[in-house]
Amino acid sequence: MKFVHFGDLHVWSRCFVWRELQYPKRWIGPVNLRLNRRKRFPPGYRLPAIEAVIKEKTDIAVYTGDFTTFALREEFVMASALFERIFEKVGDGLIALPGNHDRYTEASVQKGHMEHYLAFLPKERVFTRQLAPRITVVGVDHAYPFRLRSNGIVKDDVHEQLVETMERMKRTNQIVILAGHFPFITPPEHPESWHHKLIGEEKMLELVRTYKPRLYLHGHKHVRWSLRDERCPDTLCLNCGSIGMKSDSREKQAGYITWDMDDRGEIRNLTAKVFDGRSTWVPHDLSQD
Ligand SMILES: [Fe+2]
Ligand SMILES: [Fe+2]
Repeated sequence: MKFVHFGDLHVWSRCFVWRELQYPKRWIGPVNLRLNRRKRFPPGYRLPAIEAVIKEKTDIAVYTGDFTTFALREEFVMASALFERIFEKVGDGLIALPGNHDRYTEASVQKGHMEHYLAFLPKERVFTRQLAPRITVVGVDHAYPFRLRSNGIVKDDVHEQLVETMERMKRTNQIVILAGHFPFITPPEHPESWHHKLIGEEKMLELVRTYKPRLYLHGHKHVRWSLRDERCPDTLCLNCGSIGMKSDSREKQAGYITWDMDDRGEIRNLTAKVFDGRSTWVPHDLSQD
């Protein structure tokens, strides 16, 4: 079974939003877009990104959030048109969850554009998708709107559901691929900041130590990495980086991760692919340890 893991496309449509100005993010965000994001997330990268995923002829495509930049209707419309192309090819093999940018403000959440335009997203905060008799993807959605910050939160009720689900997976002897938007640990060279981190990350670390999923897939921090940490050595944490960002550094430049998994959950050919900015996605090995 072949996997593609990608995320953080961050489509954007315009720089200023003349509404919801009571939210500081509604004017700080656009100023930031004008100064930085417009260059960092070139619209010309979007279609090559979607085509690269399609060309992989993958069985499973896992998208770990941040479809949009400001959770605006226009952005969801664009994301929907792009992801429709993947859905056409991969069908139910497309497994996706939202990121913090897709729930940018309380008002944008209430409008329900995300659920409307990205109908392939699961309705529940914790969901499962069985891929093979012994292999299941468990997804958890920790994204909530914040007035200014970009955190995620491990809320008690969602965490209880996740524990119950992992308990069920253990009873039924499933090999689990856990997916979320936020990292719960990061490599020492990429520390997480207080306004960007997953609040309650220690609960996720404890869960991963206890239930030992084979993989934890996430994005949010726009750096590609593979991390096997001594605190949870049975789980390989993969950050797919952004598939839409322009950068001089290979780990930050637009790219994604692929691998093969057999029916016993063995991982082979773990590879990162990085966009050359024109037409080619250049592969390089991603160390498992
Ligand atoms: Fe992001
Ligand atoms: Fe994010």
